[in-house]
Amino acid sequence: MANVTDLMIMREQALAAVQGAPDVAELEAVRVRWLGRSGLLTAALRSVAALPIEERRAFGAAANQVKADLELALDQGSARVRGAATLAQFASEQADLSLPPRRLRLGRLHPISRTIREVSRILATMGFETVEGPEVESDYYNFEALNIPRGHPARDKFNTLWVSDPLGDDPERPVLLRTHTSPMQIRVMESRRPPIRVCVPGRCYRFEATDATHESVFFQYEGLAIDEQLSMADLKGVLYSFARQLFGGERKVKFRPDYFPFTEPSAEIAFDCFVCNGGGRTNSGACRTCGGSGWIEAAGCGMVHPAALRRVGYDPERHQGFAFGGGIERLAMLLTGTPDIRLFQTNDLRFLETA
Ligand code: DAH
Repeated sequence: MANVTDLMIMREQALAAVQGAPDVAELEAVRVRWLGRSGLLTAALRSVAALPIEERRAFGAAANQVKADLELALDQGSARVRGAATLAQFASEQADLSLPPRRLRLGRLHPISRTIREVSRILATMGFETVEGPEVESDYYNFEALNIPRGHPARDKFNTLWVSDPLGDDPERPVLLRTHTSPMQIRVMESRRPPIRVCVPGRCYRFEATDATHESVFFQYEGLAIDEQLSMADLKGVLYSFARQLFGGERKVKFRPDYFPFTEPSAEIAFDCFVCNGGGRTNSGACRTCGGSGWIEAAGCGMVHPAALRRVGYDPERHQGFAFGGGIERLAMLLTGTPDIRLFQTNDLRFLETA
């Protein structure tokens, strides 16, 4: 017959078993063994009825206390093993931060886009606002209004791609892919009043064979300034500042008399060749980039022709202006040291990731 001392021994054994249980399953086994239907403590509690009446109270109280102690210990044990299990799971699932990450392939701007932005940024420092115009243009804006009427020999230098008008071809109003950005000079002068300062970057088209410095689809930038009292000196000042900002003051700039029907006087601006440094020769013979001349023609420029001013309703006695325009690719080649214009369009990542 159990007595209180037996209960105390049972208590010690049961609590030790709870302490030693490593997981939920083992704890449950301990609970069943002591507190289950046919558990040892359950049996002891049942035996109360058989005790002499004077022992019942003390034994019963002790047995209930042991039961309560054991239940509390089981609860705490349960929390302990669950916590341990969670920690073990975390440890096993922990990300290995020492693994090298997958390489991030960041996109970057195409050298042509970068050059357009750089040209626009530099001209913005001198007050030029960047605007864009249509690539499908009328004969009027691309030629007529720029003093290049039908039959004018200047048309020969623009190998024009003509397009059919979706609204029906009108022989009086031919449509084309603009051969330069200059038509925007007229469009801007028509839609604004002086003072005008705009920069027009954009795609142009010419039906031409490609070589290291020519493409049939290419970009130009155009600058136009109209105001009272503008002179060739302002034009030169702007272009010198432009060249210095673009090339950091290293390149030489040369103005040579030239002819464009929409400017008078006209000039061609050239920078010294970045491959042969103006010498015209490399170790392997004549420099291929500049054709041996030592100079890279970078832009045409001049004072806006009075006839063009009059055509848009300006009085040339009051308003004058200058314009300049050149190839974006040429600048991009200079800036990135790219020897062949065709690399810009061929989508070769080896070039694009380094240019
Ligand atoms: N549009 C000319 C061309 O493509 C370049 C040019 C010359 C632009 C003189 C100008 C200019 O604005 O004034 O050949």
